[in-house]
Amino acid sequence: MKLLLLSIISVTSLIIMNIKPQDPMQESMARGEEIYNDFCLTCHLPNGAGVKDVYPPLAKSDYLAENRKASIHLLKYGIDGPIKVNGVTYNGSMPAMGLDDDEIADVMNYITNQWGNTNKNRVTEKEVAAIKK
Ligand code: HEC
Repeated sequence: MKLLLLSIISVTSLIIMNIKPQDPMQESMARGEEIYNDFCLTCHLPNGAGVKDVYPPLAKSDYLAENRKASIHLLKYGIDGPIKVNGVTYNGSMPAMGLDDDEIADVMNYITNQWGNTNKNRVTEKEVAAIKK
């Protein structure tokens, strides 16, 4: 009897866990990881470390952590000119990759929560849409 009760409880909790909607941040990060692997990894590398003096790091980047709007802006419109990341000045350029606003939100949620970065405040498509040239 006890065993039956236990199995009923575990089966119901499994069902409940499956019905429960996924965490929106987790879902966005999972989509963002694919975008990162397709569009960003070649320069910023799989571990987000970049290449010193050529491609700035995303892992523990003070720029990314402190300049949320500017980071979205450069993903949307590209960047050309000097930028200082963790004390090193990079004077390169990164083209806009033609990502949609929701894709930029997803990749931002991924890179700001990887490699020791943390950001609990989810970037949304609406927030990206509001950032103008
Ligand atoms: C062709 C190489 C290249 C690709 C691909 C690329 N980047 Fe960059 N990225 C750069 C360079 C170079 C800079 C610095 C630009 C400058 O010096 O003005 C940069 C700067 C950045 C910065 C701001 C600085 C920092 O390190 O925090 C972020 C954030 C960023 N890239 C994210 C991304 C994301 C996300 C993708 C994919 C959607 C991506 N990049 C794809 C080369 C690249």
